[in-house]
Amino acid sequence: MKTIVILISGRGSNMEALIAARDAGQLPVYIAAVISNRPDAKGLVTAEKAGIATRCLDHKAYADRAAFDAALADCIDVFAPDLVVLAGFMRILTPGFVRQYEGCLLNIHPSLLPAFPGLDTHQRALAEGVRIHGCTVHFVTAELDHGPVIIQAAVPVHADDDETRLAARVLAQEHLIYPQAVRWFVEERICLEDGRVRLSGELHGDDRLVAPALH
Ligand code: GAR
Repeated sequence: MKTIVILISGRGSNMEALIAARDAGQLPVYIAAVISNRPDAKGLVTAEKAGIATRCLDHKAYADRAAFDAALADCIDVFAPDLVVLAGFMRILTPGFVRQYEGCLLNIHPSLLPAFPGLDTHQRALAEGVRIHGCTVHFVTAELDHGPVIIQAAVPVHADDDETRLAARVLAQEHLIYPQAVRWFVEERICLEDGRVRLSGELHGDDRLVAPALH
């Protein structure tokens, strides 16, 4: 069974979705640790309650990004993961760190990348008046919120939406597509060809390339 380490910064609801998928027998992984860069991350408590090892590396205690990323890599490597999963980990990573985990570092982002990288994605989607919004799981590259796309889910933007309602609609899809992307990875069904993701094998009934949540 593959080993994963999950990195969080806050609430940890995507981490919870991964734990729930594992517990439901839908995600054959060993979750070796949950690591946060914020001591007050609520997700740390959730992970502890689930019996998962937790670590906190407060980024404020390090002189610069490189020093923090080196300590983070040391902390991760103790658990020898096959895959590192960024689940609301709100830190810009140094190119050196990204290179070290190239091909085994995933991120989830609350927009249909390459639209709206960075922060405040829901607010920006509303301000642009887009009709379709969503979320993306991708391999991490040195460019922020950028990299080969594994799966995306689309949701409609309603005329009377506010940021909270739209964020909730997107988050529900995040909780579906992240466990699925991690499952594909640990089943070794994902390969990179010319910087794009190719999914091998049959699509099963519950495999969805795009979540059809357009209601
Ligand atoms: C999620 O919406 C995730 O997509 C986003 O942070 C939230 C974390 O929520 N990540 C990013 O914006 C990364 N650029 P969670 O802690 O409840 O999973």
